[in-house]
Amino acid sequence: MDPSLIVRKEILSLQKPFHGGTAWKLGEIEDFSSNLNPLGPLPCLGELIAEYVQEVDHYPDDYSLEFREALSDHYKVPIDCVIAGAGSSELIRLFPEVFISPGDEVLIPKPGFSEYAFGCRLMGASIKNFHLIGNNDFRVNYDEILSKLDKGLKAVYLCNPNNPTGRLESKKKILELAEELEKRNALLFLDECLLELVEGSQNHTCAGEVESHSNMFIINSLTKSFGFPGLRVGYGIGSLGVIAQLEKARLSWNMGGIEQRVAASCVRDHYSHVTEASKIIDGEKRRMSEALKTMGMSTASVPDSFFFFSSLKDIGFTSVEFKDQMLKQGILVRDCTSFGNDCENYTRFSVRTREKNDVFLSAFKRVLES
Ligand SMILES: Cc1ncc(COP(=O)(O)O)c(C=O)c1O
Repeated sequence: MDPSLIVRKEILSLQKPFHGGTAWKLGEIEDFSSNLNPLGPLPCLGELIAEYVQEVDHYPDDYSLEFREALSDHYKVPIDCVIAGAGSSELIRLFPEVFISPGDEVLIPKPGFSEYAFGCRLMGASIKNFHLIGNNDFRVNYDEILSKLDKGLKAVYLCNPNNPTGRLESKKKILELAEELEKRNALLFLDECLLELVEGSQNHTCAGEVESHSNMFIINSLTKSFGFPGLRVGYGIGSLGVIAQLEKARLSWNMGGIEQRVAASCVRDHYSHVTEASKIIDGEKRRMSEALKTMGMSTASVPDSFFFFSSLKDIGFTSVEFKDQMLKQGILVRDCTSFGNDCENYTRFSVRTREKNDVFLSAFKRVLES
């Protein structure tokens, strides 16, 4: 038989999203394409993993209690406002599985992280976009969002700072939007996965607001902040009502036992690894911006976030050309073409340690001279 004849109609037209983060397959390449803690994983990560290996002879705690307790203490929210996930990706999928019925409308940023639309499409949502555009410096236009809030709208997605544009939105504006949506019985899905490495992120996170906003769901993960994409550790913080519904449909034993124990220890005992990195990045992004501007890239303003998303117009490359040229110099940057909108003339690259950033700047100089 031909399985495509009986598959759900939503699956027929689906295409897997494209992701970067594959520099490890290329050998001796410096990876500036993914946005991770520049200090790398915790130096003691191997020891932590070894310590917990002995526990693989039993199923993990289905409720990830130790990890959720650590998060509950960290964010000062009740433990029942916290859900654990195998990466935030699992929760990006779970959210529409629980809240979206075929035909429901969702409003998603464009450009934005491709998994939101993918998860919604899978559930048959009708997807509308609001646009982050170059002539508004890629900032969220809240009036555009408000003008698109129809009756059938189920959820608005926001990412702060947004991937790939990296602009940081004000907490006040986000909460105002949450309140508008609450009046319309619509949900706010807020992705803060790229926030913690921004200096002063505790002043920007909306995690402490979930008890007073019944329609909020925030995702985050340890992937970027603790620099270990290879361990799948994510979490969501939301109102009691939202989390209770998500918990009903969560995959059993979704987080491995080793991941749970390591993650709890990271949040509880090693959070200085994140704050130290955010301080380094804050100094380095200013230094890199200066150096890039001096070399002729006036668009390389100091980013709000911990990565650059800059126009290549000054130096006359497309996103693909710049990626190819930098790769010849041993550096991988993110080709932004797949993000659509104006992004084919933009590049995205991360801020790392001083030593690595100097390698980047030398390569950049050679590309301009070649
Ligand atoms: C903005 C954003 N959100 C979520 C994710 C998913 O990451 P993870 O599943 O590792 O938490 C990514 C991954 O690149 C991302 O860029």
